[in-house]
Amino acid sequence: MTSNKSGDLRVLFVADIVGKPGLEILTKLLPGLRDRHKVDFCIANGENGCEGKGLTSKLARKYFGLGVDVITSGNHIWYNRDIYEMLDTDARVIRPLNYPGGNHGKGSTVIEVEKDLKVAVLNLQGRTFMFSIDCPFRKGAEEVRRLQTQTNIILVDFHAEATAEKIALGWYLDGKVSAVLGTHTHVPTADERILPQGTAYITDVGMTGPFDSVIGLRKDLAIQRFLHQTPVRYRPAEANVRLCAVLVVIDKETGKASSIERLNLP
Ligand SMILES: [Fe+2]
Ligand SMILES: [Fe+2]
Repeated sequence: MTSNKSGDLRVLFVADIVGKPGLEILTKLLPGLRDRHKVDFCIANGENGCEGKGLTSKLARKYFGLGVDVITSGNHIWYNRDIYEMLDTDARVIRPLNYPGGNHGKGSTVIEVEKDLKVAVLNLQGRTFMFSIDCPFRKGAEEVRRLQTQTNIILVDFHAEATAEKIALGWYLDGKVSAVLGTHTHVPTADERILPQGTAYITDVGMTGPFDSVIGLRKDLAIQRFLHQTPVRYRPAEANVRLCAVLVVIDKETGKASSIERLNLP
């Protein structure tokens, strides 16, 4: 990891990588993106890596090899048990913090990007239209206070369904963290901004995967599921693959964000 000379840290956050198409476009684009945007640190959400549901250690290692520094996740991380050991042992792979105690893994990590410069990544999950896990606001604020004793630079992946819950958490953590970046809906939103106290915010970064689909799932299967109201086996779609991400620029001293830029690339 090489840092640019200024006092800024340039962080690329890559949206949920879906299946093989997601891996292929990551392979094609990420090394060039890191160079072109002088990225110091790259976070990617990997909850859908393994055929759309879950992640394996083999896939995680591939993402690291391509230039990802930390992998966040969400509700789908539990679908493939292969990742559980890595969740327990590798500081670079995290899952939402606010799942009840007794689950595998941890919800935050602190990584030394360069000498005397640490970056914290915190993963939280919403509760509206999702599992009724612990409160992301209270658990999140508590963890932020703990992380602040180690670094000013804290990025939050808020994996949630409801836009209102995401926006509320953005305001709640404004000034306390460098960024609140939404994931899970797989649909990029156009509301990226810097909140008044210096937190970069976006409701959803989108998806790194096939957009000729219903949020990654083959559209015929999705339609069938809505028509019949019974489960179908998840199969990722293949066409119109795009990489969605945001580039966040953060002051290394204060941890405040100065810009957030949305990327959506074929
Ligand atoms: Fe996802
Ligand atoms: Fe999800």
